[in-house]
Amino acid sequence: MSAKRKEVEERISGNLREDLGAFCLERWQSLHENYAAINLSESGVFPLKLSELEDFGLRLDELKHLELGYGWTRGSPELRERISVLYNGEIGKDEVLVTAGSAEANLVTAMSVLKEGDLALVDVPNYMQVPGLLPFLGARVLELKRSSPAWKFPIDEAIRLIQENKPRVVFICNPNNPTGQVLGNAELEELGDVARKAGTILVFDEVYWGSELNGEKPSALEIIGKDVAISISGLSKVYGLPGLRIGWIAGRREVIERAWSFKDYTSIAPSMLSDKIASSVLSLDSVKKLRERARRIVRRNLELFTSKVSRDLLDAVIPEAGAFIWTKVPWFKDTLGLSLELFSRRGILVNPGECFESPGFLRIGIGQKSEDFSSSLEKLVEGLVELRKGHLL
Ligand SMILES: Cc1ncc(COP(=O)(O)O)c(C=O)c1O
Repeated sequence: MSAKRKEVEERISGNLREDLGAFCLERWQSLHENYAAINLSESGVFPLKLSELEDFGLRLDELKHLELGYGWTRGSPELRERISVLYNGEIGKDEVLVTAGSAEANLVTAMSVLKEGDLALVDVPNYMQVPGLLPFLGARVLELKRSSPAWKFPIDEAIRLIQENKPRVVFICNPNNPTGQVLGNAELEELGDVARKAGTILVFDEVYWGSELNGEKPSALEIIGKDVAISISGLSKVYGLPGLRIGWIAGRREVIERAWSFKDYTSIAPSMLSDKIASSVLSLDSVKKLRERARRIVRRNLELFTSKVSRDLLDAVIPEAGAFIWTKVPWFKDTLGLSLELFSRRGILVNPGECFESPGFLRIGIGQKSEDFSSSLEKLVEGLVELRKGHLL
């Protein structure tokens, strides 16, 4: 093993503490993303510029007069109102907590719903933040493993395990990162009914909600109801605004109040500037336009991907949502080694399946500007063909 490979492996998969491993995906991104010539590692659609937000309701000149105080620690009433409206009447503005991205929402939700020794079921693969945190929070964990080739959520197993074990909570990433698969409404209803009977909370990380390629879908919170479900989402992926660091938790009042208390220990308040910008662009009309933008970008790039990349080079799972594609590498299992070679030889950044407990797979972003994406894909194909020809095998 090369020294470089060893060093990266230690940094992305070492332990931070006995009960907390490094967060492989985020470590991998942080170490490489700003040095990549071609970044195919993002999971959202390419970001908007501040000036472009004027088309979505922002009055840029008003920002000049904004007093940069702490603002509202749980998010301003305007922003919480706008977020609550996305859930079509299931919740009110006091049932929303604004967080620093959905990453903080995941953290404070997990802190709020779990206590030492509780049993948690978790959807795997997923973004892997929550699976990483669970041992640190003292939970007992059972993984609900998705598997090749369809990568669907294992609903029958989830139902059986909920009925048999009555876990405190089930964490589900829907639409799923990295597989792009989406649970159907009937499946969600069934899961909700079973969880309600077992006294189990269902936490949905829905940061890709709104990008479903087959059209608008309600949140799991609307379908199941706030007595059982909690929804986590944010503006980073579908809305192209990761730099705002705005996410949220939506659910019943006690959960939100408790999460707010935990947030006192993490970030206190959302950035005042981000709160203001997010409040301006979250009208229903702008939400519709931004979601359509995301779908348009992903549809076009998905077409490019399937026309330019042969299945014997990358065997892709066609996504139902998200701005990424999950692909098997049929000719090579060591996808961490492959990703490192692609990066060091050609400056191309993709995400290795090892960060999703799935060696042999890559997650490739398809949310870029289509003009750039076409040539990036060509370079990716060249790089992979070169590696397949024998440099790695
Ligand atoms: C499923 C999922 N949840 C949460 C996050 C965190 O995103 P952010 O904090 O930018 O909202 C990500 C980022 O990739 C993600 O994929």
